[in-house]
Amino acid sequence: MAREGFNEIDYSSIGIRRIGIGVLGYGFMGKVHSNAFLKIPFTYETPPAIPELVAMGGRNKTKLDDTAWRFGYRGVYTDWRRMVEDPRIEIIDNCTPDNLHHAPSIAAAERGKHLICEKPLAMTVQEAKEMLDAVKKAKVKHMCCHNYRFIPAVRLARKLIEEGALGMIYQFRACYLQEVGHDPASPSENVWYATGTKSGVLLGIGCHIIDMARFLVGEIRAVSGMVKTFNPVRRNAAGGEEAVNADEGNIVLVEFENGAIGTLESSGVSTGRKNHHAWEINGSKASLCFDLEDLNHLHVYSAEVPVREIMGFSNVTVTEAYHPLHAVILPQGHNAGWEYGHLHALNHFIDCVVHDRPVEPYGASFEDGYKVQVIMEKIQESSKSGKRIEIRY
Ligand SMILES: NC(=O)c1ccc[n+]([C@@H]2O[C@H](COP(=O)([O-])OP(=O)(O)OC[C@H]3O[C@@H](n4cnc5c(N)ncnc54)[C@H](O)[C@@H]3O)[C@@H](O)[C@H]2O)c1
Repeated sequence: MAREGFNEIDYSSIGIRRIGIGVLGYGFMGKVHSNAFLKIPFTYETPPAIPELVAMGGRNKTKLDDTAWRFGYRGVYTDWRRMVEDPRIEIIDNCTPDNLHHAPSIAAAERGKHLICEKPLAMTVQEAKEMLDAVKKAKVKHMCCHNYRFIPAVRLARKLIEEGALGMIYQFRACYLQEVGHDPASPSENVWYATGTKSGVLLGIGCHIIDMARFLVGEIRAVSGMVKTFNPVRRNAAGGEEAVNADEGNIVLVEFENGAIGTLESSGVSTGRKNHHAWEINGSKASLCFDLEDLNHLHVYSAEVPVREIMGFSNVTVTEAYHPLHAVILPQGHNAGWEYGHLHALNHFIDCVVHDRPVEPYGASFEDGYKVQVIMEKIQESSKSGKRIEIRY
């Protein structure tokens, strides 16, 4: 019974499930994923579970402590091999660089942990296949973090396509452009795709638009690619020379199984472009256009508007309660930010774990991550041989 004044909350009487989370990596994605987990309880009025931030993993104890306590973790691990053994952790969320996705994910799956792994799923097709085999064998839930599937405008586009509003899809063109490496004098440490894991622009951001192509249009039948490194040598901060083998830009012609065709282009040397992820789809009845830098809008042209004089692209603000993924944290009409993709993606994954629901089709599973990896490898092969290559998984 309520008393006047302060009433202590009896947490033991609250039935909602808690779910133990371990986030590996405390850099950019470690922060974005922690932010998403923390926001879940006050974004959704009925969250599937309350994420309990059990541990954050890294190597440098001092830096790790500083980040982990600010974010509210109960503890830290400086060795991921120990972290994947912690019985309090149900979900391991791998936010480490690309070359560390493989080993910890497999070890965690073998210990029965459900797995989230940042994109690209792995460095090679072989690694990706081993990761996929491991999660299938362990029968754990798995998601490759293609967060852009969970942007409300993207989900509205998918809904319109599923409902047939576009008619026959003819063409898809997508780009993901950044300027980070455009200056040849930039030290390699400042150019994310040219240092550390050296996975390149195709693996680093090209993977997002390949995933988007599959998510919106469908399975890819064949690719013809051109992959280029413009600055094969860069100086590092210490003044030494480093060979850069990773690609800095690529262009791909794509044929889809449903007969549509498309172009995909990603770049790390697009001077002036900050995070320009944009795409357009043309169908027989309508066209859709999206730009991540204006993510609360989907541009829609319908050829079926009855009044010819007002036909044209409309700028639909995707923030109403009836739009997909409307977040209850904000009243309708209030804009969402870039980080909402991760928030909705991670909440979706927890929902799948708690209620034993499939991660697909809205989430990207390790199977999707593996297929994107195959496509990226075929694009590189095509660039080397100059030939069109059919995709076989
Ligand atoms: N989905 C997206 O929008 C998006 C955006 C950026 C990066 N990414 C991906 O997320 C991943 C991480 O990228 P980031 O930008 O956060 O990198 P980052 O360099 O900022 O952070 C990487 C973290 O991993 C830790 N780490 C490295 N080696 C480790 C080891 N052996 N053991 C434990 N921890 C180790 C580092 O200490 C650091 O905390 C990459 O795979 C990247 O491609 C995804």
